[in-house]
Amino acid sequence: MRPTQLTGNAVRLYFELSYRLLMDSPEGRRFLRLVGPTPGSQVHGYTTASDLDALIPHLGPGIKDRLLDLGSGAGGIALEVNRRTGAQVTGIDLSARAVVVATARAEASGLHPGVAFVRGSIRRPPLVGATGAFALDSLMFVPLDADVLRGIDAALDGQGRLFATALAVGSSASDPIRVAADELGLTTIVSEDVTDDLRRTSRHRRRVAAYLARRGPRTIRGQVAMTVITAEELVVGSLAHAGRLRRWRTVVRFGGPTD
Ligand SMILES: C[S@@+](CC[C@H](N)C(=O)[O-])C[C@H]1O[C@@H](n2cnc3c(N)ncnc32)[C@H](O)[C@@H]1O
Repeated sequence: MRPTQLTGNAVRLYFELSYRLLMDSPEGRRFLRLVGPTPGSQVHGYTTASDLDALIPHLGPGIKDRLLDLGSGAGGIALEVNRRTGAQVTGIDLSARAVVVATARAEASGLHPGVAFVRGSIRRPPLVGATGAFALDSLMFVPLDADVLRGIDAALDGQGRLFATALAVGSSASDPIRVAADELGLTTIVSEDVTDDLRRTSRHRRRVAAYLARRGPRTIRGQVAMTVITAEELVVGSLAHAGRLRRWRTVVRFGGPTD
């Protein structure tokens, strides 16, 4: 088994477990509702309202466009982008549980099949005629090399943009997506350090998890979920405060005319 396969399997197992804890317990579902960037939008990462506001003008989706959501998780961002713009969205995720939950939410909202979710890898995005792609807090889980961007480039048919956020570890951690884009000679339109947002969101997630752990309903699964989140946010929060973890917001352009 190659190292990338090993990492991929470990990431998949971690997220399968995480989605089972969060989606299959009342505390987990309540947590996701309370920490989302907009009312009702469930996200697994650190997406803020400001990320969503920036994503739409940068990708400029029109009603006829199809976008790719790379690492779509529980589907909250794909559904929100569709609601705001009318663009069709295909989400892909490694986690089977995430794809089932996201599909059920799209169906319940009456937005399926305009918004659809499939199981797959960011390393091989599906060729569905997409004109743009977004990846919120997911690209850091694949070895972020030029091949990943080549795959996205192929899925966008050499046109369009990628809007992405990613965490990077290290006191002088540069934007990992920009580094990969530079390697391929692609243009990075935006490379913004949004670590302040990460600190705030992480603190909020930790407080909500602690609150829900104290209040009912108290299921074993829910208690485990809140303990895991509290531990994760303690690590993320302390690293971010110590300047050893950063969050980047990046827009890369594939081909096309210069701006
Ligand atoms: C932190 S979550 C963010 C999910 C979603 N973008 C959001 O903000 O709600 C990262 C997601 O990336 C997915 N993921 C990680 N590596 C992946 C890969 N190689 N291919 C597809 N999905 C992947 C995980 O299963 C997980 O759902």
